[in-house]
Amino acid sequence: MSGQWTIDPAERAALHARSLADPDGFWLEQARRLDWITPPRTAGDWSFAEEDFHVRWFADGTLNVAANCLDRHLATRADQTAILWEPDDPAHAPRRLSYAELHAETCRFANVLKGLGAGKGDRITIYMPMIPEAAVALLACARIGAIHSVVFGGFSADALAGRMADCGSTLLITADEGRRGGKRVPLKTCADEAAQIYDGLKTILVVRATGAEVPMQPGRDVWYDEAVAGVAAECPAEPMAAEDPLFILYTSGSTGKPKGVLHSSAGYLLWAALTHQVVFDHRPPETYWCAADIGWVTGHSYIVYGPLANGATTLMFEGVPNWPTPSRIWEVVDRHQVSILYTAPTALRALMKEGDGPVRATSRASLRLLGSVGEPINPEAWRWYHDVVGEGRCPILDTWWQTETGGHMITPLPGMPLKPGSATLPFFGVEPRLLDGEGRTLTGEAEGNLVIARSWPGQMRGVWGDETRFFETYFRTFPGVYTTGDGARRDADGYYWITGRVDDVINVSGHRMGTAEVESALVLHESVAEAAVVGFPHDVKGQGIYAYVTLNAGVEASDALRRGLRDWVRHEIGPIATPDAIQFAPGLPKTRSGKIMRRILRKIAEGETGGLGDVSTLADPAVVEDLVANRVG
Ligand code: WT7
Repeated sequence: MSGQWTIDPAERAALHARSLADPDGFWLEQARRLDWITPPRTAGDWSFAEEDFHVRWFADGTLNVAANCLDRHLATRADQTAILWEPDDPAHAPRRLSYAELHAETCRFANVLKGLGAGKGDRITIYMPMIPEAAVALLACARIGAIHSVVFGGFSADALAGRMADCGSTLLITADEGRRGGKRVPLKTCADEAAQIYDGLKTILVVRATGAEVPMQPGRDVWYDEAVAGVAAECPAEPMAAEDPLFILYTSGSTGKPKGVLHSSAGYLLWAALTHQVVFDHRPPETYWCAADIGWVTGHSYIVYGPLANGATTLMFEGVPNWPTPSRIWEVVDRHQVSILYTAPTALRALMKEGDGPVRATSRASLRLLGSVGEPINPEAWRWYHDVVGEGRCPILDTWWQTETGGHMITPLPGMPLKPGSATLPFFGVEPRLLDGEGRTLTGEAEGNLVIARSWPGQMRGVWGDETRFFETYFRTFPGVYTTGDGARRDADGYYWITGRVDDVINVSGHRMGTAEVESALVLHESVAEAAVVGFPHDVKGQGIYAYVTLNAGVEASDALRRGLRDWVRHEIGPIATPDAIQFAPGLPKTRSGKIMRRILRKIAEGETGGLGDVSTLADPAVVEDLVANRVG
């Protein structure tokens, strides 16, 4: 590892080939990046076959994830900033926590959790704003061996309650309020509402963030600043088996309730650390900024675990890209001399709309690398990122991965030849394949279902509380491989181009939403008889949410009802699930066996009403004419 980049681009292919040819040798060597209590002697031990299905990595090793992110840096970089916090309001002061301070604060937090009775294997839900205490809470759980389940602060009380109930959390960590784009987010109020719905909740630990007055229920609610007074800043790190769960993160699928994706301790941490190091060519103490929220896997892997395992200075941003001005991101880059910026295409598209002025008004000379994540980046946004933001100087790292994969899977490495819109080539140890609808492997230039043909250390280990759902969701359709749910094209150079989801999952501003979830929320409304939800192309969000709603007999369609339904979904799930368009439909296109033909609904939502294909199998073809005539555009 010498030269301009962590991995010499000329060596990438050989290293990738070695990672596949000698996986044990490759991964045991990589495992030395971590600080083990007992170093592993075994690497991957897995089978995707139904009769012997299992996934284990480094199973005889033991370690503690928080110790890897904190303690091992104390000898070399105790005073280096670990977390650099930029507040929502640029008029407020940033905060810096050195590795020594983050270590001490994590220990104190861990001792508070222990004092509240929490320990190894307990599930602790975290519903926090983007403040350093959110990262501290994750690390404190990891330190005592508790399993954290972070719920994005934008989710509703209902969604929070459902996720707590699913994993049986008795302890919730939240804050009085959050701040975002100059507005307050009433987290504690939502937590109280969630406690009304889920009665298994015994304790709410409340971090004082804005100082707002919030009701505290004696016997249940505890202020963190009161609980931590006088608590020791030393807390031994619990030794954990490599395969012990580190966290649960709920994510939407094509059917049913969101599932609790379960990640391991060692394999996950190694994947987050290695990808963060190699893909972002990270060099401490430079400042690295992943502009995601800790509520998503991107925040877990690339704000907290990967960067801290690598001794980075990780910037945590409380705010939003376009407040108070559309220069905000670039001003933060200048203010903190950010070298590496990692953000989402949806943010870039929104900022692109403001023109080049707000970007050009800033320097950005510190930027070295630019990352993209969450959805396919359209070539236009790619070029703007590259030419305007990076002034042609910074490689664009379009990283394809998923909550389930723990970290980057198909991604460029810096220095490699790039193509705008392509996530390029697989990372070390990753063996992608394209399959046709019948499961046949496609070779050469092709387009099909993207699957991964072997296990990798960062792979999810299960669905919380549902032993069979992991296998059924990811290994049933195409036996022997991991099915991603994405489609992709491979070009003549072997580069991959992700085309988007091939299932009933939609990607709204880089956030994953199950159409079935939005439908369930809609039909809970007293006026709604039936609902069908599809995605449609949206110029900023990537995909928007289009809902077809059949009202109950006697209910009058109106704009007021349309607004009411939007508010209803916001309240049931959260603002990210708000439908962009609602079309009242007297009937939905169904086959004679009663199955809704989503293909037709998608076409109409996309405005492609000319090519609806064969509608003769519909129970009532006249329904389609009404849908086309009343399309909401
Ligand atoms: C889905 C996973 C990856 C962490 C954040 C989202 C889409 C993600 C890319 C990319 C094209 C992408 C896929 C994937 N996606 N990154 N670089 N190019 N598509 O995690 O919520 O689990 O969503 O996001 O469709 O399946 P997630």
